[in-house]
Amino acid sequence: MQITVIKGTGRYLPHRCVTNQDMTRWMETTDEWIQQRTGIEQRYWVPEEGGVGVSDLGLEASRIAMARAGWKPEDLDMIIFATLSPDLFFPGSGCLLAHKLGLTTTPALDIRQQCTGFLYGLATADAYIRSGLAKRILLVGAEVHSTGLDISTRGRDVAVIFGDGAAAVCLEPMETDAKAGVLASCLHADGSLAESLMAYAPASRDNPRISEQMLREGKQYPVMDGRNIFKYAVRRLPEVTAEVLKKAGLPLSAVDLFIPHQANLRINQAFAKAMELPDEKVYHNIQRYGNTTAASIPLAFDEAIEKGVIGAGSTVMFLGLGAGVTWGAVLYRFPG
Ligand SMILES: CC(C)(COP(=O)(O)OP(=O)(O)OC[C@H]1O[C@@H](n2cnc3c(N)ncnc32)[C@H](O)[C@@H]1OP(=O)(O)O)[C@@H](O)C(=O)NCCC(=O)NCCS
Repeated sequence: MQITVIKGTGRYLPHRCVTNQDMTRWMETTDEWIQQRTGIEQRYWVPEEGGVGVSDLGLEASRIAMARAGWKPEDLDMIIFATLSPDLFFPGSGCLLAHKLGLTTTPALDIRQQCTGFLYGLATADAYIRSGLAKRILLVGAEVHSTGLDISTRGRDVAVIFGDGAAAVCLEPMETDAKAGVLASCLHADGSLAESLMAYAPASRDNPRISEQMLREGKQYPVMDGRNIFKYAVRRLPEVTAEVLKKAGLPLSAVDLFIPHQANLRINQAFAKAMELPDEKVYHNIQRYGNTTAASIPLAFDEAIEKGVIGAGSTVMFLGLGAGVTWGAVLYRFPG
């Protein structure tokens, strides 16, 4: 039987550490408010003067992941790049990353699935690999939020949450009879809630897509109905957990570590409570990085491996909910 395994992982954070205290220079907020509502203490942002795009962060993370996998760029059959903050409106950042890796013909697919971009990417890569359409896939989740946030008091509910960063995983097939690799995936979307978390412009339904008036109104910035997203996440995450376990034919107790999207510490604590999970079974690092959207799950995964929390034989569940809204879960077991 052919399964999909993760051969190497890597992460990269820009160097500018922005603390909650730093935020108080730009907006009316407090360290206490941010920590109490979100758990976040600091995040990393690209340099204020610009010049660093999401493919640059993705490149650094990819280099680390590929070195650990023992791959060279020319070994890649495909790049999947998950981001909601592409370097350009088009073409996709996967094309830019391929070019930065020195590749000239390798297919590159961008995924615009926001916080579940990694989950959608992993399920897609697994399907390509198991069907034999591709052998070696580089999956990247990366974001540069900081250049697109309203850091005045008007945008404070959103601006304090998001961080920049990137993480990458290398995926390849393995021939085995063992129950390992990507065990099951469940993906969902409900566009009726699109306006609960969105950035309006540039908008192809408007002509022009972006105008001075839109800029004045802040239509280029993300807006969020935080309470609605919170409620929806707390309902959908337990549901999709049960669904993916059922699909894989495994009990909840078979999962060694849950790696939820790092949207808000309180959401993930509510998930743990609803599922009656002990603290050590749910991984958190939002305190240090903020919400890095498509990068958040692979970033936490890479960190958990490095810390030795998971390794050979461990079973991990990746799960999350975000803009779209989209939500999903993927179960993965390291080969023993
Ligand atoms: C965003 C979130 C932290 C806001 O917390 P909340 O308890 O819902 O707070 P509210 O939005 O109701 O705002 C409460 C008050 O705090 C204020 N506030 C908002 N942001 C603030 C900030 N950064 N600092 C200080 N006060 C702030 C609001 O203006 C409001 O003031 P008011 O009562 O005088 O009107 C919370 O809703 C949340 O995390 N939701 C989930 C969001 C999420 O996960 N998004 C990512 C999905 S991928």
